Parts: sequence; C-alpha cells; structure tokens
Amino acid sequence: MAASDPRQNLDLVRAVERIAAARRVAAFTGAGVSAESGVPTFRGGEGLWENHPLEEVASIQGWRRDPLRVWRFYEGRRGDLRRIRPNAGHYALAELERRIPEFSLITQNVDGLHILAGSQRVTPLHGDLWRVRCVRCNYAAEDRTHPLPELPPACPVCAAHLRPDIVWFGEAVPLYAEAERLASGADLLLVIGTSGHVYPAAGLVQAGLEAGAFMLEINPEQTALSRYAHLHLRGPSGEILPRLLEQLESLEGQGR
Ligand code: OAD
Repeated sequence: MAASDPRQNLDLVRAVERIAAARRVAAFTGAGVSAESGVPTFRGGEGLWENHPLEEVASIQGWRRDPLRVWRFYEGRRGDLRRIRPNAGHYALAELERRIPEFSLITQNVDGLHILAGSQRVTPLHGDLWRVRCVRCNYAAEDRTHPLPELPPACPVCAAHLRPDIVWFGEAVPLYAEAERLASGADLLLVIGTSGHVYPAAGLVQAGLEAGAFMLEINPEQTALSRYAHLHLRGPSGEILPRLLEQLESLEGQGR
C-alpha cells in the first residue's frame, strides 16, 4: 500500500474512524499475518503444502497410515518456529487489544506468534504447534521440547502415541462455538491475511456479518471473502496494521 496513494489514504482514515468508534472488535487472522515473519502461507506460490501432500500430513487418515511421517512434518514446523519472531502486524494487534476494551483475536494460525507478541485474548481455532495430546486418553499439554527425543512421542499417562494438538482436515473444530460467539458479538470484524477458503473457519465472517458487523479486510490480494468486505485495505498486514495504530493514536491525541 503506497503511502502517497490518496484513495488508499482515505480508506485508511475511514478504517481508523471505524476502529475508534467500535465497541466490540473481533480480529480473525490467517497465515498471511505471519508471512512477514517468514512463515510460508498455505495457498501462495511458496505454499507449504506443495511439498507435503495435505492428505498425508494434515488428516486423520494420513496419521493412521504413517504417524512418523506426520510427526516429522510437524517437527520441521516446530523447528522453524524456533527461528521465527512476531512481526510488526502481530505487535500492532497486541497493542490494539490493550487500547480497545472488548477486543478478541481468533486465529487460524498454529504458530503461537500472536501470544509471543503479547496478545492475550486469543482463540487458536486450529490448535497450537507447541501442544500435544494423547490419541487414547485425555492427556493434553504444552510441550516445547525440540527436537522431541522420540517420534512419535509416547503419552506419559497411558503410553499411547501423542499427536500434535492441531485440528486436521475433516475434524471438528472444538473452539468454533466460542469463536462464533465472539464474531457474532462484534460490531467490527478485522479479517486479516486469510484466503477464506477453509470452512468452518471462514463461516465466522458470515456469522459476524449476519449479526450486523462492519467488515474490514486487510490483505494484499482479493480473497474469497473480499466481496463481503465493507472496506478493503490492500497491502501486507505488517505495514498496514502499524499505520492504522499510528493514526488511531493521533486521532486519540486530538481528543476524538
Ligand atoms: P492461506 O494460505 O489460504 O491464505 C493466506 C492469505 O494471506 C492469502 O489471502 C494471501 O493473499 C494473504 N497474505 C499473504 N501475504 C500477506 C501479508 N504480508 N499480509 C497480509 N496478508 C497476506 O492461509 P489461511 O487462510 O490461513 O488449516 O488458511 C486457512 C487454513 O488452511 C490454515 O489454518 C490451515 C490451512 O489448511 C489447518 O492447518 C487446519
């Protein structure tokens, strides 16, 4: 987004005014928000899944066929996270949460970067790379050991396999009802860095819109959700979000 583009600047001002006037804000993020941290998106040219057939590494069938292969994939992703830091977009969202009393963040990302940046009210819809859970008993825990000493790791309670605590394709999304409650209670929905192709996650936007929310999309590209957006700020979230925050601060400084 070019700073000198008058149309875009006007849109930025409209967006800031919306944020300043909102009472309840829900931000819904996807892989794009982490792109500037060096985490590949799923469906871009460099999409992560291209080298890893989706059905093999992110489905229960793939897990049953070859849990070791699945774990090797997630161990690779866990290893990447050791080197990856939040970017300016993650930090700006954490700061927005501090400024807006009823602000919640629903993320499809499993990289934990929102938390690392300081966001507190985070609903990790698709799970968390640093968590494991048992396939047999109720054991579930955070485990930041990397590399894990054995693959697949064994449950400390019942010795069955532990799996990544990630929602795979075809599985229920346990936090969906909570996320839907947040989205439909919001008067402003920020939809950031998601292609909107994956359901039920993308259905949250519909839930928010049906309840009357204003939708602001931040994405360098058109997406499956763009046609529902009331306003679209086109550009990388690591640039746009800090600019929004800066302008919000100056608006507040003017006592508005
Ligand atoms: P996608 O890879 O489908 O979409 C990434 C979006 O980010 C695209 O719309 C890009 O245009 C946008 N984007 C790229 N760079 C950006 C930047 N710097 N700033 C802002 N946006 C940028 O990723 P998701 O929509 O998150 O599910 O995919 C949803 C789910 O599909 C993932 O959670 C994952 C995957 O299968 C599971 O792991 C269960």
